[in-house]
Amino acid sequence: MQKLLAFALLLYATAPLADEGVGERLAACVACHGKSGEGVRGAEYYPHLAGKPAGYLFEQLKGFRDGRRVNPQMAWLVQFADDTWLREIADYYAALPPRAHAADTGADALTPERRERAERLVREGDPVRNVPACSACHGANLAGLEPGIPATVGLPADYIVAQFGHWRDGVRHAIEPDCMREVARAIAPEDIRAIATWLSQQSNPEGTRPAPAGSFTPPTSCGALHTETTR
Ligand code: HEC
Ligand code: HEC
Repeated sequence: MQKLLAFALLLYATAPLADEGVGERLAACVACHGKSGEGVRGAEYYPHLAGKPAGYLFEQLKGFRDGRRVNPQMAWLVQFADDTWLREIADYYAALPPRAHAADTGADALTPERRERAERLVREGDPVRNVPACSACHGANLAGLEPGIPATVGLPADYIVAQFGHWRDGVRHAIEPDCMREVARAIAPEDIRAIATWLSQQSNPEGTRPAPAGSFTPPTSCGALHTETTR
């Protein structure tokens, strides 16, 4: 019975029906991503979707379908979806209010030294390892940059650590040049958890949207910024 229900949900999520709103068709996503894509309370691993750039979301959905990102649950849900439907999904979540709250997973407290180091790495980078500041690409307010760089606030620490691992292991690929892969590989392993924890504690109380395309220039080239936008 559960299998049948899951299959019905799969068809529902991947085969758009003309007479229904996108929101209703995305009922299968609510359990893991929240009713309005704002994320689920206490979720340690599920990212929120709301307010992220549509270009970014579209690339991620294609990535799960085409194997550039590996996650069995996500791959299963989008395996039969065509680009038109994935664009609609991306546009739908991008238009919703960005997540305002920090992650609520009760991440470990950081010692003052580690907190200070994490914040310095995020804001200034690591000159010794030639890592640019996260904020140079994700924005001074970490709310992202259209069309391809997402906010890093409000993401659970375990999710961030896992994504760094995926880039380092070659499991997650963005459009080349994949600037995040270089960042993830250059950061010292012992710093990743501290950065992830610090980021998970940041919020976006004003619900600031990703900065408009071209409003600042990242220090290195990112293929994600040169995707066609969603229209
Ligand atoms: C069973 C839980 C589950 C369901 C249901 C689910 N997702 Fe996900 N989703 C995940 C997980 C886990 C990840 C992170 C995977 C990873 O590690 O890369 C994810 C990641 C994503 C991402 C990438 C987010 C980012 O910031 O990079 C998008 C977009 C997404 N899901 C959309 C959807 C849509 C649309 C649906 C419904 C059709 C859906 N998800 C249903 C668990 C789920
Ligand atoms: C040179 C630009 C650049 C720098 C510097 C950078 N990022 Fe990124 N980041 C990106 C781009 C581009 C993406 C989107 C990649 C994709 O399409 O999958 C991204 C995606 C991410 C994601 C995935 C978010 C999600 O929802 O799955 C995380 C987490 C992240 N960056 C964290 C960081 C952290 C932490 C730092 C600093 C240590 C950092 N980034 C520095 C460009 C950058």
